[in-house]
Amino acid sequence: MVAETRLHPADLILPAFVREGVSEPVPISAMPGVVQHTRDTLRKAAVEAVEAGVSGIMLFGVPEDTKKDALGTAGTDPDGILQVAIRDVRAEVGDELVVMSDLCLDEYTDHGHCGVLDAEGRVDNDATLERYAEMAQVQADAGVHVVGPSGMMDGQVGVVRDALDTIGKEDVAVLAYTAKYASAFYGPFREAVGSSLKGDRKTYQQDAANLRESMRELALDLEEGADMVMVKPAGPYLDVLAKVADAVDVPVAAYQISGEYAMIEAAAEKGWIERDKAILESLTGIKRAGARMILTYWATEAAQRLAPGT
Ligand code: PBG
Repeated sequence: MVAETRLHPADLILPAFVREGVSEPVPISAMPGVVQHTRDTLRKAAVEAVEAGVSGIMLFGVPEDTKKDALGTAGTDPDGILQVAIRDVRAEVGDELVVMSDLCLDEYTDHGHCGVLDAEGRVDNDATLERYAEMAQVQADAGVHVVGPSGMMDGQVGVVRDALDTIGKEDVAVLAYTAKYASAFYGPFREAVGSSLKGDRKTYQQDAANLRESMRELALDLEEGADMVMVKPAGPYLDVLAKVADAVDVPVAAYQISGEYAMIEAAAEKGWIERDKAILESLTGIKRAGARMILTYWATEAAQRLAPGT
């Protein structure tokens, strides 16, 4: 009766991986229960999410290894795996799920960075923005409702917004990865997308020690036209989330990332914590801190458990 925070299935967004050229889903060892989907099983996962009351799906494409190159060409190929998956999911569930797409190059580059590199091997911010503009357009053409630029390049939200408007896709929204920290908790995701990254992303993602910097990123993203903003990871950054949520009137999302998922699953597997309770508690904490929407790999399962009468 007196609960101040209540989780609802529609708070949840399911991140999902789809891999090119596989006929069976491929398990991700560091994320028990999560797979790289085939085109077919992705469609099924989307239907299940709708039936559970989940409100959105965030799609990540995993191209064939041979298609990775320095520029991440597969990311802007109209027939690239992510674009194909967007069309598949839209065809399957129409507007019943908000279809979102990761707008970033790391899944498609052979060096694994989120952008293209300059002659010295550093990520080239402005050259990357040109690639992001093109990505936004092919994803919008494929029918995505919301693009999620996650590469943390300076100016990415503005460039993506302009690129969408230029081709008449004013109605495609931008979910800005506003405060995205260079985190050790992304570990399992690197396996999930078959990333070839060596080193880290500290030249473009944020330092775990900083909060004021995130507020500056927030101001820039809003100025550039972000429709929604996100804090990521979620659990170790609830103070950031609370501060961002207090500061804005656009919807705020939080991403409970792969490492957060893996920690609970691993501890539960060892019998050290109660899995089901820990999952809902972790999600309640994220909502209490101020998230309107939560991206979580448990979205469908949690939504099923939250359904009235269960
Ligand atoms: C970048 C991207 C990453 C995640 C989502 N988008 C990886 C990174 O920045 O290194 C991580 C998600 C997760 O760990 O669950 N395309």
